[in-house]
Amino acid sequence: MHDIIEQLEKKREAARQGGGAKRIAGQHAKGKLTARERLELLLDEGSFEEWDMFVEHRCTDFGMADNKIPGDGVVTGYGMINGRLVFVFSQDFTVFGGALSEAHAEKICKVMDQAMKVGAPVIGLNDSGGARIQEGVASLGGYADVFQRNVMASGVIPQISMIMGPCAGGAVYSPSMTDFIFMVKDSSYMFVTGPEVVKTVTHEEVTAEELGGATTHTTKSGVADLAFDNDVEALLMLRRFINYLPLNNRAGVPVRPSGDAAERLDLSLDTLVPDNPNKPYDIKELIVKVVDDGDFFELQPDYARNIVIGMARMEGRTVGIVANNPLVLAGCLDIKSSIKAARFVRFCDAFGIPVVTFVDVPGFMPGTSQEYGGIIKHGAKLLYAYAECTVPKVTVITRKAYGGAYDVMASKHLRGDVNFAWPNAEIAVMGAKGAVEIIFREDKGDAAKLAAREAEYKARFANPFVAGARGFIDDVIQPHETRKRICRSLAMLKDKKIENPWRKHGNIPL
Ligand code: HXC
Repeated sequence: MHDIIEQLEKKREAARQGGGAKRIAGQHAKGKLTARERLELLLDEGSFEEWDMFVEHRCTDFGMADNKIPGDGVVTGYGMINGRLVFVFSQDFTVFGGALSEAHAEKICKVMDQAMKVGAPVIGLNDSGGARIQEGVASLGGYADVFQRNVMASGVIPQISMIMGPCAGGAVYSPSMTDFIFMVKDSSYMFVTGPEVVKTVTHEEVTAEELGGATTHTTKSGVADLAFDNDVEALLMLRRFINYLPLNNRAGVPVRPSGDAAERLDLSLDTLVPDNPNKPYDIKELIVKVVDDGDFFELQPDYARNIVIGMARMEGRTVGIVANNPLVLAGCLDIKSSIKAARFVRFCDAFGIPVVTFVDVPGFMPGTSQEYGGIIKHGAKLLYAYAECTVPKVTVITRKAYGGAYDVMASKHLRGDVNFAWPNAEIAVMGAKGAVEIIFREDKGDAAKLAAREAEYKARFANPFVAGARGFIDDVIQPHETRKRICRSLAMLKDKKIENPWRKHGNIPL
């Protein structure tokens, strides 16, 4: 018995040492924490229950039979974040570069399976050189086993990937199917093939940072949702983010009581929108003034900035916020912003998170680059997402709601539950100038006549009452009472239930 316990302790110690002191020092020298240090920061103190510490790979090729490290390069198990259950895996770069073997994959699959059984999120801390090269197809099979589970878990439990080192090949495809991807600046990379392969195939010379660094993926590709300065900040922000999420698709949103009164008025909102309809303003100012305690967790803040998405709370309950931002491209919907918002709306819908939408949109972005890029199909993603969505939907039109974009942005017609407009809202097929140039083409060249027509069109449509008269707007509200009216609407909608018709799945325009 004594021997066994000694042996056990030895194995545990070997597992804790991972790839050894030298490699751990190397990890630290790169400004990175080890797999275990990361879990210590992420999880509530003392809450981590580790599984499969003694798992070893089964590879015998290339001298691997004598090169086994207990745990095989990934630390797995479960623990708590602010008292709420999460399953975790944390890849250990000091063990074969965190590369995924068959046994390593089995460990990840085990926590994913258990998370599905009990209904709790899976968080992956990714730091991996991809498929374990010595294992060949066994490793590829392991990846595919993880991918299959990612897909089965999608929309059932939240899946979050924190990229904390190089991730190449298979190591990027599992994160890509999770709900959110966060990265650490200067130490994490994601690419299908690295710079050397790129050079061979396309003759492009590009650094790892340019090709797949955190800045690239949070500004250019939109693959990642947020970039953090270092491991510590990343993990602490991840703890904050988890607080917003339901544990699974049936659990309902978490509630965090707030001292911020639901009936709180904010008079400064009455002057937020400039008199000149062509003058921009920052929609984020409205968001932080409306949500609980001004606490807004924005996602993808540096990508497709013409639309703003993120998590917040109203009366303590999580809501998803979607808002056009007139500060960027006048708040137009384009390909990137449509995709960004559509995916977010679908996440909220899958997990029962109500969606609050602030609308100030002059329409879809015109032009060849948008048309050639497929704005028709990509813009339709957002339309589809809102139309399919059955969670409570509260919409506030703060200024413009023109054309197809009016329909798209959680309008009444797409089963918006409560649709408000501010008094200066303009709900029309297009702006007055564009409209008269088309319907009064015969007056072209007569500036005075056109100006009169424009004024007439404005007087007719540059207000919320035409839509109000048809019941497309439930009420015209004062900007300062926006929080109060949204809170009341959400409270009324708390037990909302509608169902879409049975089908295997819809066919969203991908
Ligand atoms: C086995 C690996 C490994 C791998 C790294 N190592 N990647 N071992 N399989 N895939 C080992 C190294 O041998 C080294 O071991 C240790 O990890 C650290 O690696 P370094 O190269 O010294 O570190 P660094 O300079 O920081 O570079 C990290 C790296 C690089 C960028 C990840 O190692 C790299 O390019 N690796 C190969 C990436 C790759 O091509 N993966 C396969 C992708 S294909 P020692 O003993 O020296 O510490 C794929 C297919 C799946 O994933 C497809 C599914 C759809």
